[in-house]
Amino acid sequence: MLFDVIYRGYERLLTDEVRKHHIPSHIAIIMDGNRRYADRVGILRDYGHLHGARTTERVIDWCWELGVKQVTVYAFSTENFSRTERERDVIFDVIIKKLDELVRDQRTHDRRMRVRAIGEVNLLPGDLQEMVKRAEDATSSYDGIYLNIAVAYGGRREILDAVLEMARKVEDGRLCSADVDEAVVAGHLRTNGFAIPDVDLIIRTGGDIRTSNFLPWQANGSECAAYFCAPFWPEFRKIDLLRAIRVYQARDYEGGRGAVTRIAGLFASYVQTVTGVRNQSG
Ligand code: IPE
Ligand code: IPE
Ligand code: MG
Repeated sequence: MLFDVIYRGYERLLTDEVRKHHIPSHIAIIMDGNRRYADRVGILRDYGHLHGARTTERVIDWCWELGVKQVTVYAFSTENFSRTERERDVIFDVIIKKLDELVRDQRTHDRRMRVRAIGEVNLLPGDLQEMVKRAEDATSSYDGIYLNIAVAYGGRREILDAVLEMARKVEDGRLCSADVDEAVVAGHLRTNGFAIPDVDLIIRTGGDIRTSNFLPWQANGSECAAYFCAPFWPEFRKIDLLRAIRVYQARDYEGGRGAVTRIAGLFASYVQTVTGVRNQSG
């Protein structure tokens, strides 16, 4: 109870602080740790994926409130095809269910949220492909916020396809090799017909410090901040998102740290201590 009050207060303080600075326009998230979360709390791993999908819903709400324009979430990598058939089916069913809810949810339409899938969608089971198409079609005219779902996505494959397309164009004279620069490469990077803009902030939950073939081109510009955090995806909270945004904003911060920021910093270390104690005790 006391913890909740402190948490809400801290969340509000951090939200106000973060809003004073530049909000990243594109956040990409590697949502990792669903199975470890399930193991830790003693539930079936299937539910770990379901809880994870609920977190994704909440994160979309928070990003919308904060004015983030693009959110790209890593839901299933090409490497994930090597998981058991049963687990793949569970994950695909969760994605279908969540996409179906998104299409029906009035918030999607009020926010004019455009939903797109990136990746080798053609490798997915038919019912998931149909659902993806349904979600894309239902939101194709929207531009309020973009939700990009990376499914059957692999960054190297995306780059390879771009290289092959450019090579074909050079061969038949539609492109001059001397004209190939970063912008031209970026212009050829698309999967499932969609191109994803450069990422401002990449977040990975679950404690591992690697990017697992996610947006290698778009998330490696000099402006992209990276935030790796310990919570498993189902337990990712708004303050974790706000802290990540604060890392992105850090450069602006250094110049003029005001009193409120310092108080927020003090609160942060206090809550971190309280959270640490809570986590250690259960
Ligand atoms: C992320 O959680 C979801 C997917 C990769 C589909 P994991 O399933 O990788 O869970 P952990 O990382 O093994 O705990
Ligand atoms: C990364 O998680 C991919 C997704 C979140 C979809 P993984 O659990 O598959 O990644 P690795 O194997 O730890 O790199
Ligand atoms: Mg994992």
